[in-house]
Amino acid sequence: MILVLVAFSVATVATTFFLWRKRHLIKLGFTMPHKGWIPFVGGVVYIKGMDEIIEVTNKCFEELGDMFFTWIGPVPLILVRDVEVAESVLTSQKCISKAGVLDPLTNLLGEGLLTMRDSLWHTHRKYINPCFSLNMLLGFFDIYNKTANELSDSMESHVGKEASDLRFLFARSMMNTATETTMGKTLEAGSKLDLLPQYQVCMRALMTQMVRPWYQIGFLFKFHDLYKPLKTAKLIIKNTINSLIEENINENDNNNGPDPEEKPIFIKQAIKLAKANKFTLDDVDIESNTIVVGAFETTATAIYNALFCLAEHTECQDKLYEEIMAVMPDDVEVTYEHLKDMPYLSMALNESMRLLPAVMFNPREASGDFHLHDSTYIPKGAQFMISIYHIQRSKKYWGPKADEYDPEQFSAENVAKRSPYAFMPFSKGLRNCIGWRYAQFALKIALVKLIKKYKFTTEHKLKNVVIIPTITMNFKDVPKLKVTLR
Ligand code: HEM
Repeated sequence: MILVLVAFSVATVATTFFLWRKRHLIKLGFTMPHKGWIPFVGGVVYIKGMDEIIEVTNKCFEELGDMFFTWIGPVPLILVRDVEVAESVLTSQKCISKAGVLDPLTNLLGEGLLTMRDSLWHTHRKYINPCFSLNMLLGFFDIYNKTANELSDSMESHVGKEASDLRFLFARSMMNTATETTMGKTLEAGSKLDLLPQYQVCMRALMTQMVRPWYQIGFLFKFHDLYKPLKTAKLIIKNTINSLIEENINENDNNNGPDPEEKPIFIKQAIKLAKANKFTLDDVDIESNTIVVGAFETTATAIYNALFCLAEHTECQDKLYEEIMAVMPDDVEVTYEHLKDMPYLSMALNESMRLLPAVMFNPREASGDFHLHDSTYIPKGAQFMISIYHIQRSKKYWGPKADEYDPEQFSAENVAKRSPYAFMPFSKGLRNCIGWRYAQFALKIALVKLIKKYKFTTEHKLKNVVIIPTITMNFKDVPKLKVTLR
């Protein structure tokens, strides 16, 4: 009995202390439209499964407007579907840090560009930005073409077969692109160096910890089935990256002058930063890992989604095929100049990234008090969840047919009418995706190679798919694609 009383008293004191510390946020919650305002319980009671998150959030936006307050467990959260609020948050120096919901990512990757806070992030971003300049990326075009050719070859064995879930082909291809541009090596499928299965274990563990936050407590996660596979996967990734770092350090030491043929692979650039005492070797390891994690699942998801939309809308696929054939009728490698001459390719890709964005939510935390565009006061510690998905489906910005696939949404005339913040698959503002241009080149080159050779069809309908917001976007039932030769 005494034990129960002691436990109850400790819990009461802890809860009171917690609520007192969050008092400014609780007060803010009452000044805004809110749903599920009871701390610790909050909005979770309205969501019974992952497949309901989008639907329930949608209903809240319809009912409460484009910004509302809720609690997700112990986290007070402001959900946003308004472009002006999104712009205020994403351009504020006080909102550089990601919200605490990304803590499992920090546990997985360590402190890298994706997870760093404020001043440290500024320094790393400044050092890494030049690795993603247009000039650097143009140096990757032969890698993009090579992995796209391999993807196209691997598609051959699916020609004429029944429609199926082909996502594994894209995961392999985009992993090869990511590792070759980051580490200078394609880590062959099935070999000891193949990192795809290892990264897939990491992603599954990450998802488990995000959805079931108690598994973020190291002791509890030890009892989960993924604990041992995750430990092994992290070790293999670390050892592989470390051996590549050593290889590249030695290579750099043995080289006498700059090699004009040298590829601007990320690990080499990061080692140069380490030699200039701007990075530690740990930074080289963590940032190389971060780039691969940031790159491969997002691009694999984006290309599958683009092909699904084109497979449903074969008239758009045929129009794209005609554009590709007009610009490059011969069997040649895709260049930057070719891509510049294919506006419909951009429109079709953008439209699929609008409706099915690979990253659906963008979290931010206020590191100090600040004001939104309309002077709303936001106290330090407030956490935002900007819904890229809901902004990009909002009828307010995209018209009555916002849920339908129509590449004309991206005609120059229509783009000029909208806020740039209505379309942000790579986010916007101070901390947007560093790989946005890299991703576009890799995706466009792969699409050109595939659409030139194959025709994709599907019986699935965009309006019926149930979307699940895992780390990258997922489907409840993955749309299957059928492949035929052109
Ligand atoms: C279709 C593909 C991609 C999508 C949809 C995507 C989307 C995003 C989004 C929404 C963010 C969050 C930005 C924010 O917090 O405001 C982000 C960050 C990031 N992305 Fe991407 N990304 C893609 C491809 C890539 C690629 C190819 C790379 C690397 C080669 C990459 C590396 C990163 C990194 C390192 C960050 C963290 C940037 C920072 O915090 O400074 N991403 N990405």
